[in-house]
Amino acid sequence: MSENAKLHYQGKEFELPLIHGTEDEVAIDIRSLRNDSGLIAFDPGLGNTGSCKSKITFIDGEKGVLRYRGIPLEAIESHPNFVEVAWLLIFGSLPTRAEYQRFSRSLTDTANIDEDMKHHFTGFPRSAPPMAELSAMLSTLSCFHPEFLEVEDPCEVEQVAARLISKVRTLAAYAYRRSRGLPYNYPDPSLPYVANFLHMMFSKPYQQYILDDEVMSALNMLLILHADHEQNCSTSTVRMVGSSGANLFASCAAGVSALWGPLHGGANVAVIEMLEAIHKGNMTAEQYVALAKDKDNPVRLMGFGHRVYKNFDPRATMLREVSEKLIKKMGTNDPLLSIARRLEEIALNDSYFIDRQLYPNVDFYSGIILRAIGIPTNMFTVIFAIGRLPGWIAHWYEQKQETGGRIWRPRQVYTGNTRSSYSSRASRGWEEV
Ligand code: CMC
Repeated sequence: MSENAKLHYQGKEFELPLIHGTEDEVAIDIRSLRNDSGLIAFDPGLGNTGSCKSKITFIDGEKGVLRYRGIPLEAIESHPNFVEVAWLLIFGSLPTRAEYQRFSRSLTDTANIDEDMKHHFTGFPRSAPPMAELSAMLSTLSCFHPEFLEVEDPCEVEQVAARLISKVRTLAAYAYRRSRGLPYNYPDPSLPYVANFLHMMFSKPYQQYILDDEVMSALNMLLILHADHEQNCSTSTVRMVGSSGANLFASCAAGVSALWGPLHGGANVAVIEMLEAIHKGNMTAEQYVALAKDKDNPVRLMGFGHRVYKNFDPRATMLREVSEKLIKKMGTNDPLLSIARRLEEIALNDSYFIDRQLYPNVDFYSGIILRAIGIPTNMFTVIFAIGRLPGWIAHWYEQKQETGGRIWRPRQVYTGNTRSSYSSRASRGWEEV
C-alpha cells in the first residue's frame, strides 16, 4: 500500500507524504506543495488543516472523547485538582509530590502583583469589560517581569508558568473588585488555588468570605474542564503569536482577546443572555430554537455546536452534572437551569440539530455554575481564561521546544483588483489645497 497521497494537476503527478498520529489520525503533508506544483491549499476556518503536531490533548469528536496527555477526563474527575492538571498539561506527566509542592509554593509566593501594577486598574473606567482589562494586564506583566521575556529551560518555564497561573487569578479578582468599587483583597497565602481566588473575589474588609467545599469543588472542576482543548481559536492564536518569538505574556494576552468572542469563550455569556431573554418572557424556548434554525436570522442556539465534536461534548455532560449537584446542595432554584434543560431537550429531538450533529458544548452549563457561585455574567469568560491558561502555556512551550519551527504565515487567494493605475487627486474631484 502506498504511503503517499497523489495529486494530479496539469498532467503531472505529485506525491504527498502522509503523517500518522498516535491515535490513527492521518494527514497529508503538503509542505512541498507550492514549491513543487505552484498550488496552495484553501481552507478558510482551517477546519481541514493540521497546523502542528502536538502531544498535549487528544479529542475524538465523533466519539466524544477528550484526554489530557492521554488521561481521559473521567479519570481526572475522581481526583480533581486544577494545579496538578496544569502541571500535567505543561510538563507532560502528573507531578510527583515534590514537584507538586514546589509548584504550589511558587503559586502561593507569586500570587501578589506589583503595587504599581495595581494602580493600573484605576486607569480603566469602572464599566470596562473585564476581558479587556485581563488582556491588557497580562501584557503589562511583561513590563514588570523582564526577567521572563526570554525563557528557555524547564526551570524558567516552571517559574513563569507559576507566575502567570497564579497572577491571572489576582488580576481577574481585581478587575471585578474595581468594577464594583470594592477594595482589593490581597491573596491569602494560607489558601489553596481556588479558595484564594474566591477570597480575593468575595471577602469584605469586615467579613471573610466563607468557603464552601461544594463551591470550591465545582469551580475546581470547571477550571479543569476548560484547561485545554487542542487547537481552538485562542490556543491557535497563542501559537501564532508565539511563532514570531513573542514572549509568553504577550502570547497569552492575545489568547485572551481571541477567547473573548461569542463564538468561542464569550459563548458562556451569550448562553446566559439567551436564557435570561427566555426567562423574561421575551420569547419561549420553542420560539428561540425556531429563530436559531432560521437561515435568514443570525441568531444561533448559543452553547450548541462545535467544530470538532459531532457527538456530546464530554465537558458539557460533566458540567451539567456539576451544575445540578451544586444547585441542589445550595438549595437554590435557578430558573435558568430548567430553561437550559428544556432548550437542550427541544434541540436534541429536532432534525435540524440532529442532522448537523449539534450538541451542547462546554459553554451551555458553565454559566449556571458560575451564577450559583455568585460570579457576575461579565466575568464568565474571564473564568474560562483562568482555566485555559495552562493549556495556552503548554502549547506555547511545546512550540518553543520544536526544532525547525517556522513563523505562522498563511497565504491567501487574492481576489481584488488586478493591476490598476493611480488616479490623480484632481481627477477624483479634490480641490487644490
Ligand atoms: N445554532 C444553530 N445552527 C448552528 C449552530 C447553532 N449553535 N451551530 C452550527 N449551526 C449550523 C450552521 O448554521 C451550519 O448550518 P448549514 O450547514 O445549514 O449552513 C452548520 O450548523 C455547521 O455550522 P458551522 O458554522 O459551519 O460550524 P463551525 O464548526 O464553523 O462552528 C461553532 C462551530 C461552535 C462556532 C458553532 O457551532 C456556533 O456558532 N455555536 C454557537 C456558539 C458557541 O456555543 N460557541 C462555543 C463553542 S465551544 C467552546 C469554545 O470554543 O469556546
